[in-house]
Amino acid sequence: MQGRIVSGEEIDVDDLVGSIAASPKYRVLDEATIERVARQVAATGSARLDKRVRRELHHVLAAYHLSRFSLPTVDRLVAAIGRGASDEAVRAGCSEVLSWHATTRERYPLLSEGYYERLFAVTGAPRTVADLAAAVHPFEWRWTQLPAESSYVAYDINRTFVVAADRYLRAEGAGRAEQRDLLVEPPIESVDLALFLMTYHCLEQQLPGAGWRVIERSPGRWSAVSLPVASLGNRQRARFGILAGELEARLTESGRRYLVQEWETERLYLIEQPAPTGAGG
Ligand SMILES: C[S@@+](CC[C@H](N)C(=O)[O-])C[C@H]1O[C@@H](n2cnc3c(N)ncnc32)[C@H](O)[C@@H]1O
Repeated sequence: MQGRIVSGEEIDVDDLVGSIAASPKYRVLDEATIERVARQVAATGSARLDKRVRRELHHVLAAYHLSRFSLPTVDRLVAAIGRGASDEAVRAGCSEVLSWHATTRERYPLLSEGYYERLFAVTGAPRTVADLAAAVHPFEWRWTQLPAESSYVAYDINRTFVVAADRYLRAEGAGRAEQRDLLVEPPIESVDLALFLMTYHCLEQQLPGAGWRVIERSPGRWSAVSLPVASLGNRQRARFGILAGELEARLTESGRRYLVQEWETERLYLIEQPAPTGAGG
């Protein structure tokens, strides 16, 4: 990580990234994310770079705010799994964690209405899963009813979520979680299913084209991408219509086949990876 960002003022990238990374508020982010955002802001030619970068990073974190977070609660759940607690008790612990984040809180009623049964009816039950921009979504693992030998890897930029998900997934023997910025280093190892739930619209809002970039580089033979539907005001609903139209146009234009599953709060796109082009010349 070297060089200077020039945007009306000359600033050393290392210095800027280092000083922001050291502040308690942004310590949950990897330096790769701070550098990505710094370069993004600098490219606009904006003055007062340090301030602008901090503001952007604030938006990145605030967009995914948790109503509550308690690592000791996660650790109690992990210990209970280790003691061989009943499925009912483990699900109760998971449902508490799921209630801390808006997307998993909203999805929770759908889990008992066949959310994963319907999804896997199309994609097949995956043996390998990449959960892209996962937050606390891995705590839905029990509801997926995936076999123990399947492998589940969750990715997020926020270390807080990654630590919690990693402890949980390892306790279940289901997989692991990794701190990774999908816009800097997308996972490349191919998987049966990549989940990219309720995040496309957030990334598009922060940086037009960023949500699509994640889909384009998805490592999944199938990708499940969702957009929010309900709990939106009229303006947001209109924005949802535009986003959905744009996503569908991009999918069609790129030659990807997909089908849609509608839920009360979420529209789920199940997208097949396009066949490789140019094989055999
Ligand atoms: C709205 S939450 C989605 C949670 C989860 N997928 C679900 O549906 O329950 C978005 C998540 O994306 C993560 N995120 C945002 N930008 C990211 C990036 N560039 N790379 C990886 N994760 C990112 C945030 O930290 C946050 O946890």
